Amino acid sequence: MSTHDYDVKELALADKGRDRIEWAAQEMPVTRLIRERFEREMPLAGVRLSACLHVTTETANLVKTLAAGGADVVLCASNPLSTQDDVAASLVVHEEIPVYAIKGEDDDTYYRHLHAALDHKPQITMDDGADLVSTIHQDRTELLGNMVGGTEETTTGIIRLRAMAADGALRFPVVAVNDAMTKHLFDNRYGTGQSTLDGIIRATNVLLAGKVMVVAGYGWCSRGIAMRANGMGANVVVTEVDPLKALEAHMDGFRVMPMMEAASIGDIFVSATGDIHIFDKHHMEVMKDGAIIANSGHFNVEINIPALEAMAVKVRRVREFVDQYTMADGRRLHLLGEGRLVNLAAAEGHPAAVMDMSFANQALSAEYMLREGKNLERKVYAVPADIDAAIARLKLEAMGISIDTLTAEQEEYLASWKTGT
Ligand code: ADE
Repeated sequence: MSTHDYDVKELALADKGRDRIEWAAQEMPVTRLIRERFEREMPLAGVRLSACLHVTTETANLVKTLAAGGADVVLCASNPLSTQDDVAASLVVHEEIPVYAIKGEDDDTYYRHLHAALDHKPQITMDDGADLVSTIHQDRTELLGNMVGGTEETTTGIIRLRAMAADGALRFPVVAVNDAMTKHLFDNRYGTGQSTLDGIIRATNVLLAGKVMVVAGYGWCSRGIAMRANGMGANVVVTEVDPLKALEAHMDGFRVMPMMEAASIGDIFVSATGDIHIFDKHHMEVMKDGAIIANSGHFNVEINIPALEAMAVKVRRVREFVDQYTMADGRRLHLLGEGRLVNLAAAEGHPAAVMDMSFANQALSAEYMLREGKNLERKVYAVPADIDAAIARLKLEAMGISIDTLTAEQEEYLASWKTGT
């Protein structure tokens, strides 16, 4: 590989990266089993695959699996602040996988890296946030002819893709990995729950017990955050726009109120809604001195950062991932990780044990797309139910947990409609 074939921070970090990738692999038994089958069967032989994912130890185990299946894979970052530079170096040095990702890269470099991954002329894209698919459709339409299809990791990406499909703009099929049960019920809930608190704690070392934590939204990610913050002794307030989710949050034991009310009582604010300006100027105007504001959604739009900047008379980086904004009235608001996903900016993202299932879905969906893509329409597809069930079964097996099976009598009972009281 020449230096044009990759762009990472420092190749000397490679050995540290390899140790950490191997550490994560111990918690990724399902991905390992898929890798072993891929090595035997080579289902992705020769396919050009461009992945735009958070460059972490878990992602490294996924791309190694894709390469083991014969894919000609390249990787770029799906967020400017989530890259683990040692991992990027190890993939280049030890696996000869071209990687374009540097933690803290500016927006120009981010898009240059995205285009470098597309210069690979992918037949399959693997996105976390739909940036590859969106760029192909808007700026790189010459690549459409090569495309078999894509896979998408996250809720935000799927919202974008469904909007494209509804507009009739989507030009190839995409599998919505996020919507697999073995993805969002675990990664979004337990992964985001733990890693978001990890990010807040690593950035601030603040005690959560006794703090009022305002969690915006009660989707799978937000409820994971609320649940884990509650477990750490925080006094959790949930805000919602969906009456059903608001009711669930209430009956799960959380206080529910409008953001304008929550804004003046919160000590820590976290958003994971996928929407824009959840913490807006009028909220930040009433937040308490010392308030901490974090985002765990995919894009850095959930906090109105331009408004925060305009309101501030002074901005100072007081810790590695903490920017202190001093208001004209003397209040200090603390923004974590520049408003980017705090779990990946200030910590290491979701633990490997949940990414194991998410990335098993990615690997098997890529295989499915290669096999079936030509028969699929230009739509967003669910992960086939048999893949989802197989992953759950393998994960249980790997954890040494066995379950019951229905007896013939029970099967028959469930299939009959005649038996009553
Ligand atoms: N998204 C959230 N956590 C992640 C991780 N550890 N690796 C890749 N993508 C992620």
